Amino acid sequence: MSKATDAFPLEERAAALRLPEGFIFGAATAAYQIEGAIRADGKGESIWDSFTRRPGVIVDGSSGEVACDSYHRWPDDIALLREMGLGAYRFSLGWARMQPGGQGALNPAGLAYYDRLIDGLLEAGIDPYVTLYHWDLPQDLQDKGGWYNRETSERFADYAEKAVAAIGDRVQHWTTLNEPWTFGWFGHAYGEDAPGLKDGVKGGLAASHHALLAHGLAVPRIRAAAPGAEVGIVLDLNVVSPASDAPDDVEAAKRFEGVQNRWYLDAVFRGEYPEDILELCAGLLPEIREGDTATICQPLDYLGVNIYRRSVIGAGAELPPLNFARVNPPGCYTATGWEIWPRCIRDALDFVHREYGPKTLLITENGMATPPEVPGPQGKVHDPERARYLVEHLEGVAEAACAGVPVKGYFAWTLMDNFEWASGYTVPFGLAHVDPATQDRQLKLSGEVFGRIARNTR
Ligand code: FCB
Repeated sequence: MSKATDAFPLEERAAALRLPEGFIFGAATAAYQIEGAIRADGKGESIWDSFTRRPGVIVDGSSGEVACDSYHRWPDDIALLREMGLGAYRFSLGWARMQPGGQGALNPAGLAYYDRLIDGLLEAGIDPYVTLYHWDLPQDLQDKGGWYNRETSERFADYAEKAVAAIGDRVQHWTTLNEPWTFGWFGHAYGEDAPGLKDGVKGGLAASHHALLAHGLAVPRIRAAAPGAEVGIVLDLNVVSPASDAPDDVEAAKRFEGVQNRWYLDAVFRGEYPEDILELCAGLLPEIREGDTATICQPLDYLGVNIYRRSVIGAGAELPPLNFARVNPPGCYTATGWEIWPRCIRDALDFVHREYGPKTLLITENGMATPPEVPGPQGKVHDPERARYLVEHLEGVAEAACAGVPVKGYFAWTLMDNFEWASGYTVPFGLAHVDPATQDRQLKLSGEVFGRIARNTR
């Protein structure tokens, strides 16, 4: 953890930030991480509901059963956004809340919840950016093979069309999937996230292919259901540096980067998978039918980039035949063990703009975890490290915008402390602290600083 915040001229650097006119400032969340009410009003079971019941998989034994109780306290969430003066809110629809078994009719009560939230946001002048899938697959679909089953891609496209038809009259910005790399690999190769499968490269590639296919099938159906709306996908891109100049390290970094970045970007923007990865993983690939990659490659209005760090990669034994190892060079690390490397945001934006040229780029997540925080006397959390992280990363966004990269918005992860997947509640990322006993929300120093930056830019 960086302790070197005293010398950092936070207020001056925040005041000096210049983002282009009309730049969108927002905060992001995800359904399972904040909503709670996991059995309320006909909601179906999701893979995160069942995964969190397994002993030992969540570090503090917690779950999203209550989380921030946003199912009931959404007006408090909107109040926080207003307090910061943010123009946009990125959140996700719980698939199993919307459509309990993952097929058939939508659940009216689930839909009514999102109706209330969206209407509340619009009344407050906040633009909703809605993600259709942030990792909470209905358990019924998992029971039929989940993301290993091609049928799940079809189910997602049906759900997307129904959801968009129901609320698309008020939502202009749709995202199909959040981070297919993360749920593909952490859920199916490493088993650290739901559904907890440890199937190595074979699992990661199969889940990723069907997820990308789901995206490709859904995009035209979303466009038909909400003509004129913007549609995009959110990928977690990594800036990858080899651990040394040794050919083994350079090759390992290329293999890692191929799976983390190019597998998704090549498919989405070029309609093909990278040859080097296809060759390396031959024998471990799922069935990729003729026409699949063309289906995945749909015209998009924006690419959302989630980025937190760079990856320094050398040769190693992880996930054969990828055979890589993550190296942690000396530096500053957050409570999730992620290196603080502000340059990553500029480099990732430059790379994706140069190589793939999406029409518009949005930073859809960026932020940092600290160890659990204790509010001061006025109930306020003093988190200068997080404020500094935000300022330094926004400087990278501003530089990219100046250099002509079409980056139009930045969403901080996350609006308030919430359930951080396998890390439970041990690594808060919020701009606001949530009192676990009362669920009261209060902006931290970082939230105040972020709000000032957002207001200055208008
Ligand atoms: C991203 C996820 C998000 C949150 C942050 C810290 O990978 O999309 O839900 O967990 O990491």
